[in-house]
Amino acid sequence: KPRVGVLISGRGSNMMSLIEAAAAPDFPAEIGCVISNRPDAHGVVRAQAANIPTRIVDHKAYEDRSSFDAALDEALTEEQIDVVCLAGFMRLLTRALVMKWTGRMINIHPALLPSFKGLNTHERALAEGVKIHGCTVHFVTPEMDVGPILIQAAVPVLEDDTPGSLGARVLEQEHLVYPQALRMVCEGRARLENGRVVIDGFEMAPPPL
Ligand code: GAR
Repeated sequence: KPRVGVLISGRGSNMMSLIEAAAAPDFPAEIGCVISNRPDAHGVVRAQAANIPTRIVDHKAYEDRSSFDAALDEALTEEQIDVVCLAGFMRLLTRALVMKWTGRMINIHPALLPSFKGLNTHERALAEGVKIHGCTVHFVTPEMDVGPILIQAAVPVLEDDTPGSLGARVLEQEHLVYPQALRMVCEGRARLENGRVVIDGFEMAPPPL
């Protein structure tokens, strides 16, 4: 089975959804390790409690992005990781690292890309008055929150929503779609070919330029 490395920065609820999914005997991957750039991330404690090896690669210990990314890459290599899942990992990765992992690195974003890239997506969705919001799992490319889309889930925006209530509704969907996307990638059913996602031979619509 391919070994998955999960990169986190915080609470780790998406990480837990991947760990729980991968615990099923028929899941086509195993979680090889969890890496956090924050020593105090709550997700680290949760991963340890689930008996997943954890590592800290603290970005503050490196003088620039390339040396931090080199340390991350070394940790992934030492742990013999095949596929990387960014799960609430809040650091931008260098082009060099992303290129090295092209087609083998996926991310979850709490919005329906290409809308609401970046931070504070739920606040911004409410401010724009959108009626549908959601989450996206995509292959990682050097530009932030832009990669070819694997899967999305939509939720309604309700009249009395706050960023918190809307975010919770989206998060429930995140926990469903991230394991599904990882499964498709690890089974080889979803692949990145010439910058597009191919699912079982069908080419999906290209990502926006
Ligand atoms: C999740 O909502 C994830 O989609 C988002 O951070 C949260 C992490 O929660 N990711 C990003 O904003 C990436 N830019 P979690 O630690 O409980 O999974």
